[in-house]
Amino acid sequence: MNVLVINSSPRMKRGGTALLVNAFLEGVKEAGAQSEVVYLQKMKVNHCLGCFSCWLKTPGKCAQDDDMTELLPKIGTTDILVLATPVYVDGMTSKMKAILDRTLPLLHPFFEIRDDHCRHPRREGVNTKKIVLISVSGFTELDNFDPLVHHVQALAKNMGNEYAGALLRPVAATLPMFKQMGIDIDDVLAAAKQAGVEVVREGRISDETMQTVSRELVSREAFVKQVNVMFQRIIDSQAQK
Ligand SMILES: Cc1cc2nc3c(=O)[nH]c(=O)nc-3n(C[C@H](O)[C@H](O)[C@H](O)COP(=O)(O)O)c2cc1C
Repeated sequence: MNVLVINSSPRMKRGGTALLVNAFLEGVKEAGAQSEVVYLQKMKVNHCLGCFSCWLKTPGKCAQDDDMTELLPKIGTTDILVLATPVYVDGMTSKMKAILDRTLPLLHPFFEIRDDHCRHPRREGVNTKKIVLISVSGFTELDNFDPLVHHVQALAKNMGNEYAGALLRPVAATLPMFKQMGIDIDDVLAAAKQAGVEVVREGRISDETMQTVSRELVSREAFVKQVNVMFQRIIDSQAQK
């Protein structure tokens, strides 16, 4: 079984997204699956031109030749596609959206009615089975992920995949610092790893595991206080330079 992770955080390995992805992939490995991580920050991918060449002129092939040429077949053939993105302005990063727009060549132009919806059938050889979302946010409330979760659930249906669950971690910008602040995040990372095991073995992430990943680490009031002190300190120290 293959797991392809597309990480769209521009902070790549330094980010909170990567912290969750790494723990998740430990579980994937433990469950015996292969994985690959792709960092969009390193890739040159243009926006879709909306020219429909990939449907009408050169079926299955995009008119543009950039790093998407190599990524597209991987997206179309992985067993589990993991979309890993920080919340940016209440949704996925623009780079992640650009990639998803560019998956149009995986579909036929023809229409079919599937699950009571108009859809495009997938091309022969396209057999991605499941989609997992991994996301982190700066704010504390879990509902900040609602638009993104709805979007990913919708695109999974649109692309003919099964949505297998999400790891959603609020207050993630400070996640790597929590240990120094005396806040234990071991159970959160253990649950992210468990999610990797579950998705390979059971085909979905359990509700209990998802809840542990998202659990409250610090009260909103304490967080707001601490983060404002931290920002003021950083601004002051920069001003002194
Ligand atoms: C351009 C931009 C927009 C953001 N928008 C939101 C937002 O709408 N809601 C939120 O909770 N956090 C938002 N954040 C905070 C990020 O989600 C947060 O810093 C996250 O930890 C970044 O993940 P990374 O460390 O993996 O890059 C935003 C950050 C940036 C840079």
